[in-house]
Amino acid sequence: MSAGDRPSVAWLGLGRMGVVMAGRLLDAGFTVGVWNRTPGRDAELVERGAVRLESLAAARDFDVAYSMVLDDPALDRLHDPDDGLVAADGGRLATWVDGSTVSTAAAGRAAAAARAVGVGYVSAPVSGNPAVVAAGRAIFAASGAEEDLDRAAPVLETLGRAVHRVGDAAQANVVKLATNGLLAIVMQSLAELVVLGEKAGVPRADLLAFINDSAVGSPFSAYKTPALVDLDLTPTFTVEGQRKDVRLALDLAAALEAPMPVLSTTEVAFSRTIASGIGAGQDLAAVLLTAARDAGLELRPRA
Ligand SMILES: NC(=O)c1ccc[n+]([C@@H]2O[C@H](COP(=O)([O-])OP(=O)(O)OC[C@H]3O[C@@H](n4cnc5c(N)ncnc54)[C@H](OP(=O)(O)O)[C@@H]3O)[C@@H](O)[C@H]2O)c1
Repeated sequence: MSAGDRPSVAWLGLGRMGVVMAGRLLDAGFTVGVWNRTPGRDAELVERGAVRLESLAAARDFDVAYSMVLDDPALDRLHDPDDGLVAADGGRLATWVDGSTVSTAAAGRAAAAARAVGVGYVSAPVSGNPAVVAAGRAIFAASGAEEDLDRAAPVLETLGRAVHRVGDAAQANVVKLATNGLLAIVMQSLAELVVLGEKAGVPRADLLAFINDSAVGSPFSAYKTPALVDLDLTPTFTVEGQRKDVRLALDLAAALEAPMPVLSTTEVAFSRTIASGIGAGQDLAAVLLTAARDAGLELRPRA
């Protein structure tokens, strides 16, 4: 264990979320190792005291490994049988926590690979963008064996404000996919309805101010308001990343014979924004651009 009975943590994946999350652990005094597929993303964290890991296998020398990578192939890569995190027995690693938004199938593969070498596995996807994480407001859905959830608890409780234990397998992944499905639907709905408002003569800022003050306003509609009004589409989460989550939810729904008419239409709206190039690489609020174009509405940032 590292200082103050806090487990030492090997952080795997230094994207937009990973850098901020690993930084929170450093700030709280955890011993943190850092690894990223593409080198060079760890400089700031190493300067702040993180230990650079030269390989995934080096993570076996920590109490907890915590992965925050993009998608199913990325998570699969972490347990590559030749040079992955759990390629061989040995080391002190007790628990692998994954915070990525991935399918239940990918979580199951990672959990099986971990258990094969005596390492426990926790699915702990996160709700909250990098700014929300930095403010300590992120929440986690967590599933896994009780003892592994207990081992992960000091880390998760440092990273965010609440941990919802939801089962002993991949239930946390289901919770996350359902939540992100709702988020995509709300994003698309806001985009369509501000276009309607503006075509009818109500500026986006005025309509959103009212929505945010009403019962259907939400923290999400409030923090997407500047993007929708000022057209600053610098990504907190990209439109491609959000579509990835929608597709994972739809895959799960198809496997379970659960029709999703609204979520299916939302997937098409996101795909139109990506395929046309109009919002590629931008924040998920870029679905506004497609809604406006379809309606023949020229958008201007708030003056
Ligand atoms: N951003 C958000 O607001 C948000 C909120 C909640 C949850 N999430 C979820 O959190 C996860 C990370 O999101 P992010 O925004 O941090 O994404 P990101 O900025 O795109 O970073 C993705 C990370 O995954 C790594 N990666 C991608 N493919 C890989 C592979 N094949 N093998 C190994 N590593 C690979 C990347 O490494 P390289 O540097 O080598 O490309 C990078 O470290 C995603 O599952 C996302 O859905 C994001």
